[in-house]
Amino acid sequence: MKWNNNIINSQSWGKSIARMEEKENVAQRIAAMVEDGQVLGAGSGSTSYLALLAIAERMKREKLRIKAIPTSLEITMACTRMGIPVTNLDEHRPDWTFDGADEIDPQRSLIKGRGGAMFREKLLINASPRTCIMADSSKMVSRLGMNFPVPVEVFPQALTYVGQALKELSPKRVNLRMAEGKDGPVITENGNLIVDVWFDAVLSETEQALKAITGVIESGLFIGYDVEIVNA
Ligand code: A5P
Repeated sequence: MKWNNNIINSQSWGKSIARMEEKENVAQRIAAMVEDGQVLGAGSGSTSYLALLAIAERMKREKLRIKAIPTSLEITMACTRMGIPVTNLDEHRPDWTFDGADEIDPQRSLIKGRGGAMFREKLLINASPRTCIMADSSKMVSRLGMNFPVPVEVFPQALTYVGQALKELSPKRVNLRMAEGKDGPVITENGNLIVDVWFDAVLSETEQALKAITGVIESGLFIGYDVEIVNA
């Protein structure tokens, strides 16, 4: 039986997408890599959304049987709208994962998490034998932290403790991420808070130092991961 309402199908990405042409190019390149029968880790953000659209088109045209493991609620809903079956890490290991990034340095280390999905994104990237990071020209930086803070997901009751512990890492600034569609802070899909941490310099040990703080669930730093960069 079908539901008689349109609440998910009437949604779209909902915001204007910067560098649309570059993102559409790289989305097409990702869609071209998909093979029949694969399970894909589906990252979050506008580039991943465009890649899903391109994949859904190929699925229809070529009758491909693909499943996706989404990394956020918006990507789960996008899969529902586009008719892409979703699964989870308990049912399947992804054949490979595609995702976007906020910053990519010359060593292919990343900052991710502008959209707040870094915990599930890191989980999928770690669980996948292969990860492709889609890059438009705005994402390439000479050092991490030039344009974006490092997002850190924090268990709510640990906020003040974590704020204190972060001082040991000498950040330039630490901001609690505030919501736009609700009063108060952003609450992640895991029920946590996000603090955005600006550093003068992100060091090779910064990711582990953040992870070592009790109360930090995960950060958006990906230092030295084995990822392939797919450019527009
Ligand atoms: C989501 O939390 C992020 O990690 C995104 O993957 C990242 O912000 C890239 O987003 P865009 O593809 O929208 O630039």
